[in-house]
Formats: sequence, C-alpha cells, structure tokens
Amino acid sequence: MRIVKVKDYQEMSRKVANLISAQITLNPSSILGLATGSTPEGAYKILARRYKKGDLDFSEVVSFNLDEYVGLSGEHPQSYRYFMNKNLFDLVNIDLDYTYVPRGTASDPDEMCDDYEAELESYGYVDLQILGLGRNGHIGFNEPSDHFSEKTYCVDLTESTIEANARLFDSADEVPRQAYTMGIGTIMHAGIIVLAASGKEKAQALHDALEGPITPACPASILQMHEDVIVVADEDALSLCTL
Ligand code: F6R
Repeated sequence: MRIVKVKDYQEMSRKVANLISAQITLNPSSILGLATGSTPEGAYKILARRYKKGDLDFSEVVSFNLDEYVGLSGEHPQSYRYFMNKNLFDLVNIDLDYTYVPRGTASDPDEMCDDYEAELESYGYVDLQILGLGRNGHIGFNEPSDHFSEKTYCVDLTESTIEANARLFDSADEVPRQAYTMGIGTIMHAGIIVLAASGKEKAQALHDALEGPITPACPASILQMHEDVIVVADEDALSLCTL
C-alpha cells in the first residue's frame, strides 16, 4: 500500500486526476471504476479541463460506477447516474453507451445485480478503481457488517450513511434506504485501487482502514489485502494515522 500525503482537498484532487490521466494515457481503452460524492468531484473537474485543452481522450474508455440508489432514475438530480453525467461524462468525449452505472429503477433487483457483475466480469473487471471513504469505513455502499460481501448486490443503508448523504437531499426522509453496490469482492478484482480521503471527518475511518484490524466492521480495511492500493489523503484525513 502506498500512501500519498497531501496538504488539502485541492492537492488530493490533482493527484487523483493525475493517476486517472496516467491510466488513460498509458491505456486509452482503460476500464475505470468510478465513485460519486464530494471526494472525486474536484478530480473530475480537472479531468474535464484537461480534455477541453486536448490533453486527454476518453473516446475508448469504459467506466463502471460503484453504486446507485435503489428507486432513483438517471434523471433524478440525486441519482449517481445524474451526478456522473453532470460532473464528468457530459464534459468529455466518453461514449455514454460504455458508462455503466447500476440501474436504480430496475424492476428485478437480483437480475440487475447479476447482469452488472457479469458485465464487469466480461471486461475482466476494472483496471483502476477510484474509491471515496464513508465516515463509517464504507467503500462503495458496503456498510459495516459481520461479513465481507462478494458480488454486486442490494444493500440497506445505515442511519449514519443516510444522515451523511441527507445534505444532498431536501431532508433525510428523502434519502433512499437501499442502494445497489459493487461487492467488496468485486472491488478487490481491480488492478489498481486509489482510495482518496480529505477532511477530519474521515480521520477515524482512515485510521481504522489503514491501521486497524482487517474486519467487515470497517469494510475499507480489506484494502490492506490488495496488492496495489494507492491512498491519496490530506493531512486532516491522516491525522489519526501513525504511519
Ligand atoms: C460513492 C460511494 C461512497 C462515497 C463515500 C464518501 O459512489 O461509493 O462510498 O465514496 O460515501 O462520500 P464523500 O466523497 O461524499 O465524502
């Protein structure tokens, strides 16, 4: 595991954007695993700027997102499909047909999950996976639990995640109670994993993920078992780590 310690959110965003840019430059038909949320937003802005300047080409890139709220369509402003289109896909020349996000409105949840996992498998899973970190140690929407999940599945969100995400909805009542997410096993198939974290509110989770025991009570702790993880985190997020 390599730790890249940065000053703040801006520097974290530049480093994450650099890693994604390098991946696409070295392999234009890369399979990217993408996250939504505040953490990657800055990096996506930088990638969009680089594309506009002619420095990056997404035409052959394929992407798979980690997760989506159950019940939200891609037109819903809080859906992760909407987030990705607005913050990255509509700003670069990626082929939308090759941007995969779990379908929140699928009529058959089990079938949707199986199809998503099968699609990932058909590509040999992702080359580079970007992860944010939940305050409770979740990655994707893999919440603290008594076991590590394997494949893409439908998960009940915890109260702490609902509260954390309520800032993006009009009220906590509107936050969906379930989500589709790649499983821990799915995520661990990635060739390289970039875990990004910024801010004091991530410090405890980052400490537990990097320096605590490997336990499903802190899903991100499984990353200690992956052979190619790059942690890009700022001083505040790393403030509880001894390293
Ligand atoms: C989002 C995702 C989540 C977030 C995490 C951190 O697609 O998978 O695991 O990465 O909840 O969210 P932010 O970045 O908003 O702090």
